[in-house]
Amino acid sequence: MTQAADLLDPAERLDLDGLRALQLERLRNSLRHAYENVPFYKESFDKAGVHPDDCRSLSDLSRFPFTTKADLRENYPYGMFAVPRERIRRLHASSGTTGRPTVVGYTEHDLSMWADMVARSLRAAGGRPGDIAHIAYGYGLFTGGLGAHYGAERLGCTVVPASGGMTSRQVTLIQDLKPSVIMVTPSYMLTLLDEFERQGVDPRSTSLRVGVFGAEPWTQDMRREIEERFAIDAVDIYGLSEVIGPGVAQECVETKDGLHIWEDHFFPEVVDPITGEVLPEGEQGELVFTSLTKEAMPIVRYRTRDLTRLLPGTARVFRRMEKVTGRSDDMVILRGVNLFPTQIEEIVLRTPGVAPHFQLRLTTSGRMDALTVRAEARPDADAAAREAAARSIVQAVKDGIGVSVAAEIVDPESLERSVGKIRRIVDLRERKG
Ligand code: DLL
Repeated sequence: MTQAADLLDPAERLDLDGLRALQLERLRNSLRHAYENVPFYKESFDKAGVHPDDCRSLSDLSRFPFTTKADLRENYPYGMFAVPRERIRRLHASSGTTGRPTVVGYTEHDLSMWADMVARSLRAAGGRPGDIAHIAYGYGLFTGGLGAHYGAERLGCTVVPASGGMTSRQVTLIQDLKPSVIMVTPSYMLTLLDEFERQGVDPRSTSLRVGVFGAEPWTQDMRREIEERFAIDAVDIYGLSEVIGPGVAQECVETKDGLHIWEDHFFPEVVDPITGEVLPEGEQGELVFTSLTKEAMPIVRYRTRDLTRLLPGTARVFRRMEKVTGRSDDMVILRGVNLFPTQIEEIVLRTPGVAPHFQLRLTTSGRMDALTVRAEARPDADAAAREAAARSIVQAVKDGIGVSVAAEIVDPESLERSVGKIRRIVDLRERKG
């Protein structure tokens, strides 16, 4: 263990046997809580012919049915709650870009556990009591802002609740209030980078020491870009509203080797996205979570649609998840080839003359789908450099992913900037029927 043991909380000091025993006890309680208090779970367990008492070992969980986003939508807004509404202290909701939003609820105990998990995450990221934490995740129904906020307070930080947007003011706040920690989406961090440069402030000169980035996929190349341009450590935080919000898993600053899942509260499985079969450690598939301690909205085998693999613990006893490649819903299938925006991100960030801003435009060309990578030129790239960059992107996608795309190098600052989660794919395909 590389961190001084007195900085860790008791669960972080468990050995593997202790952790597994704690998980099993909590899992059995949580399955019972869901079954007895949420009609949806009673019905789905009964239909699958399983009862909470059938869970005698952690591997028995695989006999229980999955829960999906569609199940949450069907029970909108309060149908998944396992406690009387009066015990719910806070609601959050997903953006609901497709169909109804999903609402999640928290008891006082849930909010406290969540703050503990974000505090633990922040500490693993290198944050310490007394740090000033600038929070530029959006505040509101999105879990990013308030989730980060209460966790940073719980750790003992001085919190700057900047929220997202008003980008030039963010730079002023960072200059004046001198935070050592920033919590923000990686794409908005790049927007801040442009703003620092626009204001003529060297981004490497700030008081920032560590950035805790999440809410969207980002690559190792993006980590290098951000770390170099800001002279900070950049670490990954993962979470989703349905499970709790940010603070489900966190990368440790000393190893930066994937995200430790706080599995004393959130039990992970990785399953084959098609068959649903549980995959062994190390194999890539869809991440599935079962909550172990949540009161308001226990979640059983929730299918996240995020693709990753589980790995053994390193800096902590908890298993790690590899950086998320993408969501199954963000996967583009182009003439039979699967492609994720993160694969394009790696290519764009390695292409000379191109800024780390890009967009994927999907169109219809005859009967086929076509994809154009639109990337921004760096200000110093001339016409020849742009031409070379476009050719290089097309070639790298062909060689690395195995599909033909077009590439267009657009003017600096012409692509839409992110203030929160970025939307990489612009789908202009003609809809049939
Ligand atoms: O994005 C919670 C969060 C806020 C996490 C701030 C980290 C920081 P949702 O809006 O419900 O919750 O979106 C959850 O975002 O299923 C992933 O697809 C994606 N996601 C979250 N963190 C990461 C990450 C918040 N570190 C969805 N890497 C998840 C890749 C991420 N994808």
